[in-house]
Amino acid sequence: MYNPQLNSHGELAHLLTIEGLPARVLRQILDRAAEYVTAGEQGVKKHNDLAGKSVFNLFFENSTRTRTTFEIAQKRLSADVFSLNISASSTAKGETLLDTIHNLEAMGADMFVVRHSESGAPFLIARHVRPGVAVVNAGDGRHAHPTQALLDMYTIRHYKGDFQNLTVAIVGDILHSRVARSQIHALTTLGCPEVRVIAPKTLLPRDVEQMGVRVFHDLDEGLRGVDVVVALRLQNERMNGALLPSANEFNKYYGLNEARLALAKPDAIVMHPGPMNRGVEIDTPVADGKQAVILNQVTFGIAVRMAVTSILSGARA
Ligand code: CP
Repeated sequence: MYNPQLNSHGELAHLLTIEGLPARVLRQILDRAAEYVTAGEQGVKKHNDLAGKSVFNLFFENSTRTRTTFEIAQKRLSADVFSLNISASSTAKGETLLDTIHNLEAMGADMFVVRHSESGAPFLIARHVRPGVAVVNAGDGRHAHPTQALLDMYTIRHYKGDFQNLTVAIVGDILHSRVARSQIHALTTLGCPEVRVIAPKTLLPRDVEQMGVRVFHDLDEGLRGVDVVVALRLQNERMNGALLPSANEFNKYYGLNEARLALAKPDAIVMHPGPMNRGVEIDTPVADGKQAVILNQVTFGIAVRMAVTSILSGARA
């Protein structure tokens, strides 16, 4: 099947979505990230992989973690990094997305990292860039957030070993979550035997069971015996209507608290892609508790984004 992310040799040419990527590509990224983590532990933070290359970060939506860790990753690889302030750019004067891209290509762009509220925007860009220019999706609408899923897979592998014996529960607003979609594709591709999604019916996509997951509507039932719990924020910015009575009501039935976490395995880890809404999908004692690896996810995100950037640049291909 044609996959615009892979070149004719089956190598990663763009990173747009986890869907359709083979396990060998996901493992290549995780293994390369592990090399950067090891190098960092040995005091080697700076690498020359991207020396002389120009990377443009285009964040049409807000971001704290993704944007900053991409910039750190690119700088650690010695790239020339340009992060456009979209609200102060000519986008505000009506310039189209593709005109912006072509102008930045004329300045010598080698790679674009794009976050956009419209699902599919990074695909559109990837179809129109010059050969050799790479596009990375940093989150598009409710569609995909591949580097978040990859750093989540890195975190799970770090704490739990390989995926073959794990049960992972993803809790909350699955319907609007690009993170959940990407995580589900990554977990099933990497061989995780049981991926659970736990949510009210109104916050689940219609096709969710076709994605190879087990659906639970009861949080206590869904958490029993799991190795990994991923809590998700309510994506209010993507909700058109009233899908929930209130945030308080959501917390009552789907909020992750200490009593509920006790239903998971005693050594279960708690993850969250951030930003968190404390007291809604996750209570503070859990978010800051011993089982939480939420800030470790952020730290691993640097190495994972270094790996993606380096592989796409072909530096060591
Ligand atoms: N997880 C995530 O995408 O966070 P930001 O929106 O802060 O980048």
